Amino acid sequence: MLSGVRIGPVAAGGHWVARHEGRVVFVRHGLEGELAEVRVTAVAARHAFADAVAITEPAEHRVVPPCPVAAACGGCDFQHVEAGHQRELKRQVVAEQLRRFAGLDWDGSVEEVLPAPLGWRRRMRYQRADGGWGLRAKASHAVVPLPDGGCRIATPGLAAPDSVLPGDTLIGADAADGPVWVEPGSDAVVAERALGRAWQVRADGFWQVHPRAPEVLADAVLAGLSPRAGERALDLYCGVGLFAGALTGAGAQVTGIEGGRTAVDLARRNVPQARFHAGSVDRVLRRVRGRVDLVVLDPPRAGAGRAVIAEVLRRRPRAVAYVSCDPATLARDLATASALGYRTDSVRAFDLFPMTAHLECVAILRPDA
Ligand SMILES: C[S@@+](CC[C@H](N)C(=O)[O-])C[C@H]1O[C@@H](n2cnc3c(N)ncnc32)[C@H](O)[C@@H]1O
Repeated sequence: MLSGVRIGPVAAGGHWVARHEGRVVFVRHGLEGELAEVRVTAVAARHAFADAVAITEPAEHRVVPPCPVAAACGGCDFQHVEAGHQRELKRQVVAEQLRRFAGLDWDGSVEEVLPAPLGWRRRMRYQRADGGWGLRAKASHAVVPLPDGGCRIATPGLAAPDSVLPGDTLIGADAADGPVWVEPGSDAVVAERALGRAWQVRADGFWQVHPRAPEVLADAVLAGLSPRAGERALDLYCGVGLFAGALTGAGAQVTGIEGGRTAVDLARRNVPQARFHAGSVDRVLRRVRGRVDLVVLDPPRAGAGRAVIAEVLRRRPRAVAYVSCDPATLARDLATASALGYRTDSVRAFDLFPMTAHLECVAILRPDA
């Protein structure tokens, strides 16, 4: 336990930077300016990780978390922060990552998306806990039992699985026809509604978790790309074809690439007007022939990486929409694009994960004049 730790600015990943006896300490559950007692949870060569457990001098934006297990559960990093200030913290993180890794001076804001801040999460993964169900603690296999009333950020239908459901792990999907519970690896397919139509998605496969995310992200992508009828577009890391569907709806001819074979099978059913290839983007993209006018990139947290960015830009698209859930890897990829002759025209940020440190960004890239 460390006493008298003064909490510094917010950092990525739901931490705040503090210093103690010359060592950097990444503290969870703090707020800038607070004086706290922290419990060290991990020590590395040059820094340590800790949880704030008692606050001697609280900050003005501190609130009582709506969930009684918020400090122990790994799901929410920001429950102790007033909701509007959560978006300000995310704005600071995005601005810092874009400045540090891409040399960009970003003056945007993080846009609120309703429902928020509670009752929005449409995919949940619960673990068996003593006599009931729980959620994993941060960076740990420990399971935190659900409080009365269940998870506060889940939609009401997913707040807590029925205790009689079997298995050690349960995935809940609040789909168009209501909640469905499956065990990992299940091949159950559920229907979702987005962009004014139905989509088929594996219950344990990828689908945007906030109910408004498909519309919000597709609108931002279309507004940034302004597709014209007959243009050729790539949807990379396409999942079950969300952005391919948005682009074909705008008249583009779309080719999608996705690593998950089941997702590709569903994408073909969801967007029959587009062509889809199964496989890793870095290998499959090289084999896609012909002109490319527009590209959507929506990689996992690790980002697209130098080789994929170079392969995309070699085709000289007139615009690229990069959808990202990690501002650090987004910024690194934007820096790579800049070195290859593509400038960042705009970055929009959306609070699609209220109460957590996560958010979603959409960056639009265009060739240098
Ligand atoms: C953030 S999700 C985006 C899915 C889709 N764009 C959507 O919004 O529904 C990233 C997707 O990339 C896929 N993926 C991860 N690594 C990949 C790779 N190296 N090549 C192709 N797809 C990959 C995952 O299976 C996942 O479907």
